Formats: sequence, structure tokens, C-alpha cells
Amino acid sequence: MATTPDLGKPVGVTLDRFIKRDQDSFPYATGELSQLLRDIGLASKILNREITRSGLLNLEGAFGAENVQGEAQQKLDVVANIRFKRALTNGGQVCALVSEEEPDLITINPDANYLVAMDPLDGSSNIDVNVSIGTIFSIYRRKSKKGSQVTKEDVLQPGRDQVAAGYVLYGSSTMLVYTTGQGVNGFTHGPTIGEFFLSHPNIKCTPDGTIYSINDGYWNEMTDELRSFVEYCRSQKLTARYAGSLVTDVHRNLLKGGIYIYPALPKHPDGKLRLLYEANALAMIVEQTGGKASDGKQRILDILPKEFHQRTPLFIGSANLVDKCLEMIS
Ligand code: AHG
Ligand code: MN
Ligand code: MN
Repeated sequence: MATTPDLGKPVGVTLDRFIKRDQDSFPYATGELSQLLRDIGLASKILNREITRSGLLNLEGAFGAENVQGEAQQKLDVVANIRFKRALTNGGQVCALVSEEEPDLITINPDANYLVAMDPLDGSSNIDVNVSIGTIFSIYRRKSKKGSQVTKEDVLQPGRDQVAAGYVLYGSSTMLVYTTGQGVNGFTHGPTIGEFFLSHPNIKCTPDGTIYSINDGYWNEMTDELRSFVEYCRSQKLTARYAGSLVTDVHRNLLKGGIYIYPALPKHPDGKLRLLYEANALAMIVEQTGGKASDGKQRILDILPKEFHQRTPLFIGSANLVDKCLEMIS
């Protein structure tokens, strides 16, 4: 007798449908945030297409300019910035944008309610070698009145005021992971269908991790206390993993349990990673899964930013590992 072929897991909830359900759980939601999340989803699909073809389209390598932090921009950094800016402009829900690739605040639609801070493409050093890269985004509600000029104060809000945050990981599959403050959900892109599908509902980060992620090349520049923590990790037989793409490293540790560290170093006295568009979004995601994120002294989400491109040290991941690290370095 013929049997039904095994078609694998049934096609589940699309990102768009999930965003709508999420919206319905907020009684006064207007749909503006939902539209904004959909715009980010769309831009990431377009960027995903460019990334997967970059070796064929002469999109690899340096662009030939530097960003505001004096870092060499890669061509894909510039492409990613354009793609997201365009999608957010066309979507109409963003009053202003802070991007790693632009020195100043970019005003988009003064009549909109939301602000976005974003690292359009994270992990630039991995672009040309086919290692996973990412996009990181933070969404805030503006403080000033709709229609007025967006102010610096609108942007310089502590991470705890984020209304939503997330990242896209362009890896062996492409995933979008986001939160609106009610847990974290991950969506995997189905390349032949061109949709994100819910694949990782309600992600939880185990309190005790088995992975530590730090650039070992900085061993000689680390403080004695930090070196002691790394030695503790080794003594506990934790596994060392470091891709060099923040999104990749944090995503792996989120799913498997672990700690990611980018400390202050002599060449980066305030740390290398940026508070507004790298640390805050990942801190909100990780906290929402039960993990922790600190700059070594305080909770990342409690830092009051002073500058758009402010840097911070970052200790993030499984709660007990982060606590242990903070205890040993303080
Ligand atoms: P970006 O490509 O957006 O400039 O970020 C690169 C960051 C981050 O992704 C990664 O964790 C870190 O740089 C790696 O730095 P090191 O090479 O100093 O370890
Ligand atoms: Mn980055
Ligand atoms: Mn970047």
C-alpha cells in the first residue's frame, strides 16, 4: 500500500504572521512597529542575496574609504548600509537612524515614531572568507514629539528602553532572531521560498555554558584578573570558540551555552564593540533568554550613552558564567 512520503517538518509560521500575532498581544499596538520589523526582514533578505553572490559580483574586498571610527569599509558594509536605509525609508516607520557606517544621525521621516540604531554588517573581516556575518538592530520609541526635529536625546537612551532588538545571521543558513520584550524567537530563511519561518521558538540560554569565546591573540594585553578567568575556563574544560563575528559568536553561545568576552585593551581602552548598535541589542536578546550582559562594572542595558558611536567592553552569555567572570575580574 502506498504511504505518504515523509516531507519533514511541516511548513510553519512565517515571520510576517508571527509579527502580526506578536502585535495582537499588545492591546494598543498600531502596527507601526510590525511594519518596521517587516522592513528589516525584507532588507535582510535582499542583503542575504547580495552576500551569497558577493564572490560572483565583485562585491568582496575593501570599498576604499573609512567609516567614522577610522575602520576600512568593505564593499558589503556599504551595500548593507544602503539596503537597510532604503528599506527603512520606504517603510516610513523610522524617524531617524544611527548606523555604524555613517558619522551622524540620519533623519528619515520626522512623522514616524521609531528610531533605529544598527550595525548593517557585522564581522567585516569574515566577508571574504565565507565565514558567517550578521546585521544587528535596536529599535527605540522617540522621546520628542512626532513631526518635530529628532534630537540627540531621542537617540541616547539606555538599552533597557529598547522596544525591540534583534540580529540577522548570514551563516550556513540565514536566520533572523528578535525580541519585543516577550522572549526571543528565531526564524530561518527558506531560500527557495524567500520567506523566514519560525524555527527556534522561545530561545533559552542555559545558565551554565560549556563555551568561552575571547580573542586569545590579546592574551599579553589582558589584565591578570581576566587571564585568571580564561585559565578557570580551561580548568573547567570549557571549549574555546571564536569566529571573530560578534553575531556568530553570541548566537552560538546563546543556543549552546557559553560566554563571549571583548574586554578593554590597551589599543581599545573602552572596548572595541559599540554600545548603541552592537552591545545593546545583543544584551536585550541575551537577557530575554535568561542570560546576562555586562561591561565588567554594570549591566549593559543600564548604561546611559553619551555618544552615537560609543564603545564598551562586553561580557555576555550564560548567567552563571558571566557572574563567575565578573566576580573574578572585579
Ligand atoms: P564590524 O565588522 O561591524 O566592524 O565588527 C567587527 C567586530 C565584531 O564582529 C567581532 O566580534 C570583533 O570585531 C572582532 O574583533 P577582533 O578581531 O579584535 O577579535
Ligand atoms: Mn560589528
Ligand atoms: Mn559593521
